Amino acid sequence: MTSFFEFECVSTFGFYRVQILFIGDIVGAPGRQAIKKWLFPLVCEYQPDVVIANAENIAGGLGATAATLRELFDTGVHVATLGNHVWRRKELIKDLETIANVVRPANYPGDPPGKGAIVYELSDGRKLGIINLLGRTFMEPLDCPFEAADRVLNHIGKDVCGILVDFHAEATSEKVAMGFFLDGRCSAVVGTHTHVQTADERVLPKGTAYITDVGMTGPLDSVIGVESDLVIHRFRTGMPVEFKVAKGRVLLNAVLIMTDDASGLAKDIKRISLKE
Ligand SMILES: [Fe+2]
Ligand SMILES: [Fe+2]
Repeated sequence: MTSFFEFECVSTFGFYRVQILFIGDIVGAPGRQAIKKWLFPLVCEYQPDVVIANAENIAGGLGATAATLRELFDTGVHVATLGNHVWRRKELIKDLETIANVVRPANYPGDPPGKGAIVYELSDGRKLGIINLLGRTFMEPLDCPFEAADRVLNHIGKDVCGILVDFHAEATSEKVAMGFFLDGRCSAVVGTHTHVQTADERVLPKGTAYITDVGMTGPLDSVIGVESDLVIHRFRTGMPVEFKVAKGRVLLNAVLIMTDDASGLAKDIKRISLKE
């Protein structure tokens, strides 16, 4: 398979592979608890080169703060991606300029704080591109994520041994379309935001690993992270309700992506779902 990257992942021992553990939307304290419970055993079992997690709901179920991101990094996550709740915590707006290894959606208009893509250096010196994009279907109007993907992929350059795209979107069709749009141009397109893990993980025809939604990491007995009674009340009455993150049993949803030795494209994608 021909590489789409200039930098081939070669060592004196032969070709390397890159193993990426990507954890789906971490929801509030229960999500952080699930990370503390299961991340270390997962790392021991799969020995990923990098752990990436979507952290858009990590602080109280809405947004992220510097403190919760630091706690996440302290537990072994290397890179955090975000989503539509990125501006929910006002203090993060300025902190995004200074906290390393946090990626916010790349398709906001203008020049917002933070980075929409980063190149993360692995412990052995290889580099991995990580991009965050927001969908537009059933979501707020934003710049086109497909054009943003083209722009950012050109910007990342070729000296990386893989690229992961976190496509944070509502509509399944938009996510699948992004998968095929980027097929053969990055290692993986992983969907986040809808919080329920989908069973459609696969490697697309040109070599990009894909899943519509990785699923959330947070309270198991909940409606996508929120206390179920509150959500039921809102659906039944249409009245505004202050959502609270549910308590009780937790779950962790993730995917493990293995890239091809030389090409940077994907060999395999495996779903992980751990429940108490
Ligand atoms: Fe989320
Ligand atoms: Fe979201």
